Amino acid sequence: MKRVLRRSASKHASTLFKIICILVLCSFIIYLKSEDHDLQKNTAIHAPRSNSREDEDDILIPADNKDQQFVAAVLVFCATRPDALRNHLSQILAQRPSHFQYHIIVSQDGNKTAVTQVAQKFVKDYKNVSHIQHEKTEIKKRNNYPAISAHYKWALDKAFKGFRYDHVIVTEDDLDIGNDFFSYFRWGKQVLNSDDTIWCVSAWNDNGGGPLIDSTRGDLIWRTDFFPGLGWMLTKKLWNELSPGFPVAYWDDWMRKPEVRKSRSCIRPEISRTSHNMKLAGKGSSGGMFKDYLSKISASSANIDFSLLPVTLVQKSIYDKRLIEQIENARPIDLQNTTGMEKTYNYKIVYKNIRDWHRLAAHFKLMTDIRGGMQRTAYYGVVTLMFQNCRVFLVPESTYRNPSQLTSYVYDSEWDKQNRFIEFEAYYCKTKKYAGKCDPHSPEMIAFFKKKGWKKRLDDWGEMLVV
Ligand SMILES: *[C@@H]1O[C@H](CO)[C@@H](O)[C@H](O)[C@H]1NC(C)=O
Ligand SMILES: *[C@@H]1O[C@H](CO)[C@@H](O)[C@H](O)[C@H]1NC(C)=O
Ligand SMILES: *[C@@H]1O[C@H](CO)[C@@H](O)[C@H](O)[C@H]1NC(C)=O
Repeated sequence: MKRVLRRSASKHASTLFKIICILVLCSFIIYLKSEDHDLQKNTAIHAPRSNSREDEDDILIPADNKDQQFVAAVLVFCATRPDALRNHLSQILAQRPSHFQYHIIVSQDGNKTAVTQVAQKFVKDYKNVSHIQHEKTEIKKRNNYPAISAHYKWALDKAFKGFRYDHVIVTEDDLDIGNDFFSYFRWGKQVLNSDDTIWCVSAWNDNGGGPLIDSTRGDLIWRTDFFPGLGWMLTKKLWNELSPGFPVAYWDDWMRKPEVRKSRSCIRPEISRTSHNMKLAGKGSSGGMFKDYLSKISASSANIDFSLLPVTLVQKSIYDKRLIEQIENARPIDLQNTTGMEKTYNYKIVYKNIRDWHRLAAHFKLMTDIRGGMQRTAYYGVVTLMFQNCRVFLVPESTYRNPSQLTSYVYDSEWDKQNRFIEFEAYYCKTKKYAGKCDPHSPEMIAFFKKKGWKKRLDDWGEMLVV
């Protein structure tokens, strides 16, 4: 009897031993197979914990249940703001429809303990939340942009090449999100996969401040040539293209260069589904420069079921045809006399050059900056906004004359330098700081800056073209 027991015990032990060996072997193979275990040397990866607050009830996924199928990974960027991260993750996890559909990957730049603790808490409390850490690039001359770029490239490589996801939603810790954030991106994924001329889905409207939008149109989605970022989705295919040439700094402006963009557009909603949480964000990388604009944009309280919207709405041929018709049928307005505008009509205003554009932008309080010749939210140079409860299109001259020529419009990259000059002029010449002829290249003006001890300011302004 004893012998039998002992034999069976030792038999169990040897089975157990075999299982352990197989497990060790498997993990070793997985480790070898992981493409980037070089990267992992400098990294802590905290896998999602399975004994989490939500119950282990539903590990077997019925194949026909769409609500439990993969949609995308959500890559959350953070670095030094624990309160912002807590706020952002709380919202993401409150809205996330299911942990099967969205894997949340929190990517922390550096080591700040308070941030690590927040991330770890969410990993522990929720299913399918992971935490990865990037070794922070040293910051030189108080310029944070190279560190941001390095972190972005590293984390996106991780999400697409390490975790092998084919769709990733990128967010940042200082963003609040709308109630239909996930519904929008699930729909956006179909859009992204059905139209090669669309390279990103963004939840952000750069001109999304209260008076500029139609707050009744939560379902309204536009195409834009200007990469908006701030809550956006991209595909693995695109990342494979972008990753090798990803720049060392200012990656978002790089995405706005014609040679990178290659005529592709993003989609963006009329009503932003993300907004900057100003209280928790601090000044941000741009030193609070855009604060006035950003603080007017709030995440939508609209709650749209995007699955009811046809994907074809924003597909290029259909969308372009409709936009052309809208511009054709719009009524011209004169900014000198905007009384008597009627809700039932759309309106249009022409601009012929950068000065025209600047005047209009200032009048309507749009963002005035230009990148790669593009205005924020522009689509073939057309910018749309609400004014006195009416839809208004700001239209470049060639399209104004002949709307069917919409897609022949080409952005002029020189506009970046011209625009910089106009802003320089507004700051130094129109304010009478400098009384002579306004030309930053003239010996007189350079001498003036030297005399004031402002030569560095002049250099920092960047390349300008006098217009
Ligand atoms: C985690 O999310 C991914 C992506 O949506 C999904 O494929 C996976 O099944 C999820 N895992 C769990 C345990 O929910
Ligand atoms: C964390 O900080 C230590 C030193 O403070 C450093 O050696 C290590 O590389 C850092 N890790 C990351 C992921 O930044
Ligand atoms: C302004 O517009 C109104 C209504 O369209 C029109 O009756 C009026 O004559 C216009 N005034 C000027 C100065 O053009």
